[in-house]
Amino acid sequence: MDVKRAVVCAFPPAFAQALGGALRERGCEMERTERLDPTWAGFRRADVVICALPDESEAVFRSFLDSVQVMRIARDGLPIFCTCNGVDVGRIVQAVKAGVSDFAVWSCAEDPPPPRLLRWAEELTPRKSAGGEPAGDSFHGLLGRSAAIRKVFDLISKVGATTSTILITGESGTGKELVCRALHQTSRRSGGPLIPVNCGAIPEELLESELFGHEKGAFTGATTAREGRFQMADGGTIFLDEVSEMSPKLQVKLLRVLQESEFERVGGNKTIHVDVRIVAATNRDLEKSVAAGEFREDLYYRLNVIPVHLPPLRERKEDIPLLVQSFTRRFQEKDLTPLRTVHADAMAALSAYPWPGNVRELENLVERMAILAEQPELCLEDLPERFRPSAPAGRGEEDLSSFDIPEEGIDLREFMDRIENQLIERALEMSGGVKNRAAQLLGLNRTTLVEKLKKKNLEVAKLL
Ligand SMILES: Nc1ncnc2c1ncn2[C@@H]1O[C@H](COP(=O)(O)OP(=O)(O)OP(=O)(O)O)[C@@H](O)[C@H]1O
Ligand SMILES: [Mg+2]
Repeated sequence: MDVKRAVVCAFPPAFAQALGGALRERGCEMERTERLDPTWAGFRRADVVICALPDESEAVFRSFLDSVQVMRIARDGLPIFCTCNGVDVGRIVQAVKAGVSDFAVWSCAEDPPPPRLLRWAEELTPRKSAGGEPAGDSFHGLLGRSAAIRKVFDLISKVGATTSTILITGESGTGKELVCRALHQTSRRSGGPLIPVNCGAIPEELLESELFGHEKGAFTGATTAREGRFQMADGGTIFLDEVSEMSPKLQVKLLRVLQESEFERVGGNKTIHVDVRIVAATNRDLEKSVAAGEFREDLYYRLNVIPVHLPPLRERKEDIPLLVQSFTRRFQEKDLTPLRTVHADAMAALSAYPWPGNVRELENLVERMAILAEQPELCLEDLPERFRPSAPAGRGEEDLSSFDIPEEGIDLREFMDRIENQLIERALEMSGGVKNRAAQLLGLNRTTLVEKLKKKNLEVAKLL
């Protein structure tokens, strides 16, 4: 039977817990996220979005309205239900105009969730499992039929129910975040929160307070006490993404949480106990980081209790046709593309390509091809140059002898500039526009990449 999925956004823990229980009773799995961010992959799996109407500044509310509008375009027909504390009628009207489907007042976590909301959950029809893939090719949002990915599905089924710490490894774009969600959903904590933290994207000085919270006055600007993500994840799972990027000081603090399940807030001395399952992920080789003295060995062993490795897409090519079909179907369902089939030559080229950006790169390419398509069939000529058999392999071993200098000479600086632009565009394409990852692919700091983009006037949006 297909499971109904509700994505619950921006609710404080007590509200989320109440919702989790009520939704489960109605056959609905809950995934939790802090913001209505339409780029988050979890929304693709949702049958309903339930969101607390922001009661913060006008700027936060505006960005919420923008997100509702984007979600409306990206997933037409997806119900977005809002709860509010009943104070700001003006905001409710604006939210409904932006595309919110329905709303109800819910101001106290001790009260049960509004009956109107629960009716939505009850009457929901689940989407067909990831676009009607044959049973067995899809596992909690992860698609695949290769022996390698099936091993991962089996491992998740086995270890999901345990409370052991898990370390997910694999190149960028292989599906580590999806694996974490699958682990959470198969665990007994699935009704509890799943709180993601991207340790690589949060500046070091903020990460400690983000993870562990802070007391009022702990540092300049800490005007109120705030709970950290470990506390938010109590009773559920915390996903420490890009864990290799943690500073040595935070590594020590994390080790203590792993050993004793306790910590203090920044600027506080009260010890806080939590019941949290830790799932960490990295696309780096942590053993190398340990050998280089950048990552604590004791922490590595504590995290790596159960390793889950996601093989790169080029090592599970059997999954490529399934992924291509499933990603295309998303657009067909919304009538956004005339594309129906992929010619055998084009599929062979897609299968032969090494996919350095893995599933994310494939997903982005299919999205672009679907939107640009004018015919029902995708042919080899429709694919970008690099998929044609004569194109260089693109893994850093290109034969540069094919570059020749014409008689009239070249402008070396301008030529190098063009190559640099192309490589930057390619890295952004492979990383789905995420500058952090693109910088990693190019071996640059994020700030260096951002400066280059500014200087070159390269627009990320244009490239995607
Ligand atoms: N097996 C899969 N089936 C369906 N979609 C997938 C699969 N693997 C990855 N994806 C999709 O590819 C994209 C990248 O996946 P995800 O964010 O989980 O990768 P990641 O390993 O966490 O990458 P990074 O290291 O860059 O953070 C997402 O949109 C995700 O939905
Ligand atoms: Mg990730």
